[in-house]
Formats: sequence, structure tokens, C-alpha cells
Amino acid sequence: MNAALLQATPSVVLPAPCPVITSERLMLRPHRLEDATAIAESLSDFKVARMLARVPQPYHRQDALDWLVSHASGALPDWMLAITAGDDRHIGMVSLESRPTRFGSNTWRLGYWLNRNHWDLGYMTEAVAATLEQFFRYLPDATISSGAFADNLASLNIQKKLGFRIVDANQVFSLARNRMVPHVETLLVPEDFHPTAAIRP
Ligand SMILES: CC(C)(COP(=O)(O)OP(=O)(O)OC[C@H]1O[C@@H](n2cnc3c(N)ncnc32)[C@H](O)[C@@H]1OP(=O)(O)O)[C@@H](O)C(=O)NCCC(=O)NCCS
Repeated sequence: MNAALLQATPSVVLPAPCPVITSERLMLRPHRLEDATAIAESLSDFKVARMLARVPQPYHRQDALDWLVSHASGALPDWMLAITAGDDRHIGMVSLESRPTRFGSNTWRLGYWLNRNHWDLGYMTEAVAATLEQFFRYLPDATISSGAFADNLASLNIQKKLGFRIVDANQVFSLARNRMVPHVETLLVPEDFHPTAAIRP
């Protein structure tokens, strides 16, 4: 490798490998191929998929298997955490994906979704808070980018409670809706992160 190429390579600061994280009601763990059936059940629900950019409809077990092999095998530095609630069954996920910026540095992108049977219990606030708390232990200076479709008030509420700020608005293509959808970009800096205030007592 020549010197010019070395200089152009973004420096990626890595966290630890995808961990197991325990919160009050949940256990988050790395994914397994056996999660494919549960993932397909969750993501074949249009009410879940419509809020995500990259999930097609219909969604089959094979789509889940393809995703597990390419994204959740542990080969990447990304954290792809399966959410479970006491019985080890996959009910959702939280992801932190490393993304190079055009300035040669690195940012982390937060994503998440939950099976509809488990909505409105405060689970995702708890899961994301626990994940970020653990993540900042490894990378205390990291900034986390995220976002949501503008009609996703539950998701924007979670992010606001945790300390994310809205930084931009754009249009993002949703595979499930098959159209461009108004989208809000958000950013979290470590000093704004307040997990305990976000979680319901
Ligand atoms: C968004 C999603 C993850 C939320 O999961 P959840 O476990 O139900 O979320 P929580 O219960 O932790 O928190 C939701 C918060 O939004 C609030 N909320 C829910 N629906 C709302 C609405 N229509 N308008 C405003 N606030 C709303 C809830 O009251 C709660 O706030 P509170 O704890 O202060 O009362 C879940 O609905 C989901 O998976 N949706 C589909 C996929 C998705 O949207 N992923 C995120 C993409 S950015």
C-alpha cells in the first residue's frame, strides 16, 4: 500500500465486539441465524416496515437470513443487538453502524425497530438507553447520528428524551412505501445524553 492510499484511509476507532447488555426488563445480545423466523414475522408487518428505509414488503425469512449473513455475522465493527424480554426470543433490534464521513473520520448511526406486539411499554427507550450507555463507555467522545421519518412521532420522541437534537430535514426513499418520505436527521453528542430521565419510572 502506498503512502497516499494510507493517508486516504479513514481512521476507524472501534468499540468492543457486539456485547450482551442487560437492562431492567430486557436482554440485548448478538444475533444468531436462528433469529431469522422471528425477524421475518416482525418485519413482514407493514406498520413496522413503513417506518424503516431499507425493509422491502413483502418480507420473507430468506430476506432475514440474507441480512443476518451480511450484517450480523460479527465480521463488521457494528453492534447489531437482538432485543429479548426474558425468554431469549428475538422481538426487535438496536443497531450502531460505523459510517465513514467525507472528512475521513467516522460516525456511528443508530437504528432500531420492535415487533408491534411489544410497542408502548417503554421497551425501546430502555433498549436504546442501555445500548448507548454501554457504547459511550468504550467510545466516550463518539457522536451518534440517527433520524426518523417525519411521521414517526414515537421514534422522534424516544430520541428527544435521550438527548438527540434535530439537525436537518430531507427526503429518504422507503422501500416498503415505495416512495420518497419526509425525514428528519438527528444527532447526539455525549454531553447531551440523559438516559435516566428518558426511562419511565
Ligand atoms: C418506534 C418504536 C421503536 C417505538 O417503540 P416503543 O417501545 O413502543 O417506544 P417507547 O414505548 O419506548 O417510547 C415511545 C414514546 O413515544 C410516545 N409515543 C408513542 N406514539 C406516539 C405518537 N403517535 N405521538 C407522540 N408520541 C408517541 C410514547 O408515549 C413514548 O413516550 P413516553 O415514554 O414519554 O410516554 C416502535 O414503534 C417501532 O418499532 N416502530 C416501527 C419501526 C420504527 O419506527 N423504527 C424506528 C425508525 S427511526
